[in-house]
Amino acid sequence: MNQTTPFAVITGASRGIGAEYARALATQGYELLLVSRDMKRLELLREELQQVSQKDIWVELLDLSQPQSAEKLYDLARSYRSDISLLINNAGFGCYGDFADIPLATIHNMLQLHITTIVESIRLFLPDMLVRKHGAIITVASVAGFFPIPYMTEYAATKAFLIAFSKGLAQETKDRGVTIQVCCPGFTDTDFHQTAGHQPKQIFLAQSPQQVVQTSLQALKSKRTLVTIGWQGRLSLWISKIIPHKILMTFAGKAVKPPSATHLK
Ligand SMILES: NC(=O)c1ccc[n+]([C@@H]2O[C@H](COP(=O)([O-])OP(=O)(O)OC[C@H]3O[C@@H](n4cnc5c(N)ncnc54)[C@H](OP(=O)(O)O)[C@@H]3O)[C@@H](O)[C@H]2O)c1
Repeated sequence: MNQTTPFAVITGASRGIGAEYARALATQGYELLLVSRDMKRLELLREELQQVSQKDIWVELLDLSQPQSAEKLYDLARSYRSDISLLINNAGFGCYGDFADIPLATIHNMLQLHITTIVESIRLFLPDMLVRKHGAIITVASVAGFFPIPYMTEYAATKAFLIAFSKGLAQETKDRGVTIQVCCPGFTDTDFHQTAGHQPKQIFLAQSPQQVVQTSLQALKSKRTLVTIGWQGRLSLWISKIIPHKILMTFAGKAVKPPSATHLK
């Protein structure tokens, strides 16, 4: 164990944006703890990363939608090293459709994964960083958190919570050596959409997970709190500030409305 080597914990690292964070940080010389529910993918990623990095890369199986998973994550991380430099709360999933039809278990898992586990993880990891006056926490939210979106109502609301929470916390911890970032990708080309059972119509606007991660890590250097990706992200943020949300909700609801949902004309 080398105490001078930076150490990052990444949730949802088995694929997509999380795996890209792992690739970027491995090339920057970080030691890594990679967490998800798929050990096969995590092991494959570790093998890939060990081709470019001589540093320790640990992988752990953890379902972060279960109660007490923040404590488990924190204990696991500290079993490897006590000085965590960077926590990346990235694990998440999408869910589309009539809210009234969505199984209660799915709703519960999303609230636990996107809100409870992240808030509790930050509560556990942050104090050590504040004592050391050094560290960063990136939480991956979404442009979907900029305004309410019908038919992905719960997803958008959880991401809005993460944006508000991170902005408040960034202000609280200002000038105390810790950077709080909330990264808000737009439509990104990952398995996310297939897992959610919904392919957005505007595929030409797709961003790559590499672009998301590059922008996010670059923004850490300037300690920016709210991070958007490319011109699409800047446009989404601008639109959400100048156009009434009632109008935006009508358009967005139509764009994501599943064929079975008939309430939005
Ligand atoms: N793709 C987009 O268009 C987009 C846009 C804006 C924001 N985002 C956000 O970006 C983040 C990453 O998404 P992605 O696009 O990279 O999607 P992805 O390719 O589907 O990856 C999701 C990651 O989250 C992990 N995960 C999901 N549920 C988990 C659980 N219960 N416990 C532990 N890990 C879990 C998955 O790992 P396992 O399945 O192996 O457990 C996987 O590594 C999410 O927070 C998402 O909301 C995505």
